[in-house]
Amino acid sequence: MSKKIVVITGSPRKNGNSFAMTEAFVKAAEAEDCEVTRFDAAFMKLGGCHACETCFSKGKACSFDDDFNKIAPYIGEADGIVFSTPVYWYSYPAQIKCVIDKIYSFCVAGKAVADKKCALIACCEEEDKTVLDGVRVPYERTAALLKWKSVGEVLVPGVLNPGDIDKTNGKEEAAALAKKF
Ligand SMILES: Cc1cc2nc3c(=O)[nH]c(=O)nc-3n(C[C@H](O)[C@H](O)[C@H](O)COP(=O)(O)O)c2cc1C
Repeated sequence: MSKKIVVITGSPRKNGNSFAMTEAFVKAAEAEDCEVTRFDAAFMKLGGCHACETCFSKGKACSFDDDFNKIAPYIGEADGIVFSTPVYWYSYPAQIKCVIDKIYSFCVAGKAVADKKCALIACCEEEDKTVLDGVRVPYERTAALLKWKSVGEVLVPGVLNPGDIDKTNGKEEAAALAKKF
């Protein structure tokens, strides 16, 4: 049976570095016969978690009118989740952080979300690889808490402008993740 993979991106740059890696991953995953569903958080209507703790009680994951409700069913069904994002101010861009925060809804409602595989694809301008800790550490702790198994991390420093990713192995490394699901 083909694996279901949800890809959640964080960049608003369609021609940017993380999208290029995302596209390389998606192409490789589809070649592995995976069923890939991609959500570009930057182009969705996503707000922060209100901590109302009424998740899933009103027929939808988030009680607010929020596009997380489009993503949640796919997360619930997925065999694997991939986060693909640039670093913004040593952390996640706001829109993808909204998605990550709202994964809390599964915990509040006691919905089974454990035993999935996950991966991280990330990039940043600075050459210092520890800048990527701002997305890597929350990713690893989230995976541990949710009992998801991380199958790989592609962490690419030193890319600023669209096209810079072509000077790195980022796209090849992102594509190689596809075999790990
Ligand atoms: C609002 C904003 C904040 C950023 N903050 C950082 C940062 O803290 N550290 C860093 O190295 N790069 C930072 N960058 C640079 C991006 O991470 C870098 O340009 C990356 O390649 C963008 O990925 P994308 O092309 O997929 O959008 C920032 C960019 C923007 C627009």
